[in-house]
Amino acid sequence: MSDRILHPLFRDRVVSAETAAERIAPGMTVAMSGFTGAGYPKAVPQALARRVERANDAGERFRIKVLTGASTAPELDGALAKVEGMELRLPYQSDPNVRERINAGTLDYIDIHLSHVAQHTWFGFFGDIDVAVVEVAGIREDGTLIPSSSVGNNKTWLEQADQVILEVNRWQPEALDGMHDIYYGTALPPNRMPIPLVQPDDHIGEPWLRVDPDKVIAVVETNAPDRNTPFSPPDEASKQIAGHLLDFLAHEVKRGRLTDKLLPLQSGVGNIANAVLAGLADGGYSGLTAYTEVIQDGMLQLIKDGVLRMASATSFSLSPAGIEEFNAHIDFYSKRILLRPQEISNHPEIIRRLGCIAMNGMIEADIYGNVNSTHITASRIMNGIGGSGDFARNGYLSVFMSPSTAKGGKVSAIVPMVSHVDHTEHDTMVLVTDQGLADLRGLSPARRAEKIMEKCAHPDFKPLLQDYFDRARRDGPGRHTPHLLGEALSWHQRLVETGDMRPGAKG
Ligand code: COA
Repeated sequence: MSDRILHPLFRDRVVSAETAAERIAPGMTVAMSGFTGAGYPKAVPQALARRVERANDAGERFRIKVLTGASTAPELDGALAKVEGMELRLPYQSDPNVRERINAGTLDYIDIHLSHVAQHTWFGFFGDIDVAVVEVAGIREDGTLIPSSSVGNNKTWLEQADQVILEVNRWQPEALDGMHDIYYGTALPPNRMPIPLVQPDDHIGEPWLRVDPDKVIAVVETNAPDRNTPFSPPDEASKQIAGHLLDFLAHEVKRGRLTDKLLPLQSGVGNIANAVLAGLADGGYSGLTAYTEVIQDGMLQLIKDGVLRMASATSFSLSPAGIEEFNAHIDFYSKRILLRPQEISNHPEIIRRLGCIAMNGMIEADIYGNVNSTHITASRIMNGIGGSGDFARNGYLSVFMSPSTAKGGKVSAIVPMVSHVDHTEHDTMVLVTDQGLADLRGLSPARRAEKIMEKCAHPDFKPLLQDYFDRARRDGPGRHTPHLLGEALSWHQRLVETGDMRPGAKG
C-alpha cells in the first residue's frame, strides 16, 4: 500500500477503481477534481465509463451530471463522453468528444464564469452534490489532504458532497506539498467579509484540504500522469500579437500608467496566450508577478528567467515538456508558485484590488469591441468562457487577442456584429491582432469602430468593414452605435452557407 496514505482510517478504505465506481448511481450529480489536464481523477471515471458501457449493452440508461473545476482530459471527459455517460456538464470543457455531443444536442452544457461555480454550489443552484471524486497527492497523518496539481473547486466539492471518493496519485510529486493555499474564510451573503489578500504572494489559508473522514467511502491508489496537449510553437501571427502587446505595455510604462513592474499578469488558455508569454521574455522586464488561472509552459519559462518572481494560479496546464521541466526543478518552482481554489484565483474582489492585466484569447470581436470567446457561427460551442469574464470585467486592463483571420484567411476575426457575446464592449479595453493593437479606452462606440477597423482588421476585410460602417452611419436607425441589423449577421450566415465569410466566395 502506498506510503502516501498515512491516516489509518483512510488506509482501511482503499479499494479498486471498479469498486469505487460501483458507489456512483445513474442520475447522480458527481463533482470531480480537475482543471485543464491537471489534477483530475484518472481511474474512477474510466471504471465508471466501463460500467456505463455495460449498462448501454444491456439497454439501460446510465448517465450522470458532472461538475469539475474546468476542462479535464481523455480519461475523464473523453471516456465518459464516448459512452454517452453524461447528461449534464459544467463549467468548462475542451474535449473533442464532449464538444461534439454538446453541439449535437445530446449533452447539456452550462458555460459559466469559473469564479461562480463554488458559490453557485453553496447557494444550492445546482442541487445536491451526491459524490465528489477528488485526486490528491497524499493523505496526511491527521487526515488532511495534500492537494494535487490543480485545486479548482476541490475545497467546495469536499465540503458539499454527501460522499467522497479520493484518488491518491503517487505520480504527483511529493514536493507539491506546501505549494497550495486553501482559504477557508469564505461565507455566504449577508455574512461575507473582505478576503484578506492584498499581494499575489499572500498566504491567506492552509496548505491542505480538509475532509470529513466519515464521508470518505473509498480511496483508490493511482500512479498516472497528468495529460495536457503540447503547445504549438509560436507562429508568425502570435509573435506579431506579442510584439504589439509588448509595445503597448512599454508605452503605458512611459506614460506613467504602469511601473516597470507592471501589475499582476493574467494570461488565458490557448496557443496565442502561451506565445504572448514567450514574447514577454524579450520585453526586458524582471520581478513581475502573475495572478492568474493556469500556469502554462510560457509562464514557467518566465519564472525560470526571473521575468516573473512568482505566480499565483489554481492549476498547472503544462505540456509534457513543461511537466518534465517542472519536475526536474521542483524545489526552485515550488517557492515561486502558489495554487489556490478557483473561487480565490478568479475572485472579482481580488482581481479588482490587485489590478490584474487580463490577457485572453478570443474567437472574434466586432467593430464596437464586443467579444465572442466561445462560439463559432453563433451556435457551435468551442470551449467555454472559463475565467476570461472574471478577469476582463475586473482587471486594471482587459486585453483580448486573436489572429486577424482564421481558416486560412476565409474568416475575419473582426466582424460587424459578433455572432455570440461573452464580453460586452464595456469590458474590452484593448484588442490585438497580428495587424495591430486598438486601445479603446476613453472612446465612444463610433471612434472605437474606426480604431478597431484601422488597427486590427485584416486588409482583405478592412474595405468590407469600412463599407458596412459607412452605410450603417448613413442609413442606420441611430448614430451612437451604427448598425444595419439585417446585414450585421450576414457575415456569419455566409460562413454557415459557404464556409467562407467573404462575399461572393463559393466556399
Ligand atoms: N471562426 C471560426 N473558427 C475560429 C475563429 C473564427 N473567428 N477563430 C478561431 N477559430 C478556430 C481556429 O481555427 C481553431 O480551430 P482548429 O482547432 O480547428 O484549428 C480554434 O478556433 C482555436 O483557435 P486558435 O487560433 O488556435 O486559438 P487559441 O488556441 O488561442 O484559442 C480560444 C482561442 C478563444 C478558443 C481560447 O482562448 C478560449 O477557449 N478562450 C475562452 C476561455 C478563456 O479565455 N479562458 C481564459 C481564462 S484564464
